Amino acid sequence: MSSTSEKSEPSGISKSVEGKTIRLLRGDITREEVDAIVNAANSTLMGGGGVDGAIHRAGGPQILEECKQIRAMQGQLPAGQAVITGGGNLKAQYVIHTVGPIWRDGSCNEEETLASAYRESLKLAAQYELKTVSFPSISTGAYGFPLSKAAPIAISTACEFFKEQSSVEEVRFVLFDAFAYNEFETALNVL
Ligand code: APR
Repeated sequence: MSSTSEKSEPSGISKSVEGKTIRLLRGDITREEVDAIVNAANSTLMGGGGVDGAIHRAGGPQILEECKQIRAMQGQLPAGQAVITGGGNLKAQYVIHTVGPIWRDGSCNEEETLASAYRESLKLAAQYELKTVSFPSISTGAYGFPLSKAAPIAISTACEFFKEQSSVEEVRFVLFDAFAYNEFETALNVL
C-alpha cells in the first residue's frame, strides 16, 4: 500500500522573488506550520492583546518565561529590533518578537522603523538558518499604522532581503482580516 504523506498545501497567493517565495494567507498566525512566526510585540516583551496575546495564549507560559530572561539580560526591546524565543506549544519552532512603531503622523521615522522590524526579524531568522517565516501585519492594529502604507513596506522589505543570500526560502504574511489581505495583495501585485 503506498503511503503518501499528505502535507496540507498552503492556500493564498504567492509570488517568486529572486528564486524565493512571498506568500499571502488569510488566517490565524498561531496555527502556522513554519520554522518561525513573528510576534507584533511591545517593548516590555511581557505580552499584550492582538497577535501578541494570541501567540502567548497558544504558545503557553514558556514563551513569556524566555521573554523575561531576555528582558533581564538586555532590558526593553526598542521599536525596529527583534529577539527570538522557542515556540512553546506552537507548531512553529521559534517565535521572533519584534516591536513595530506606533503611528503618529508619519514624521517620526515610522516608515523606516517598520521596515527595520521586518528586516531585523528576517536577519534573525537567517542567523538561525531558518527556511520559512510567517509575519502578521505589524503595527497596523493597536499601533495604528495605515495598512495602505504598511503593506508596501512589508512586501518591499522582504524583496530587498531576498536579494542577499540566506537560508530563508519563504516569507509568509498571515492576514487576519479581508481588508489587510487586500492591501497586501495590492502591494504584492505591484511587484
Ligand atoms: N493572527 C494573525 N494576525 C492577527 C492575529 C492572529 N491571531 N490577531 C491579530 N492579528 C492582526 C491584527 O488584525 C492586525 O492586523 O495583527 C495585526 C497587528 O495588530 P496588533 O496585534 O494590534 O499589533 P500592533 O498594531 O503591532 O500593536 C502592538 O498591541 O497587542 C499589543 O502587545 C502588543 O502593545 C503591542 C501592540
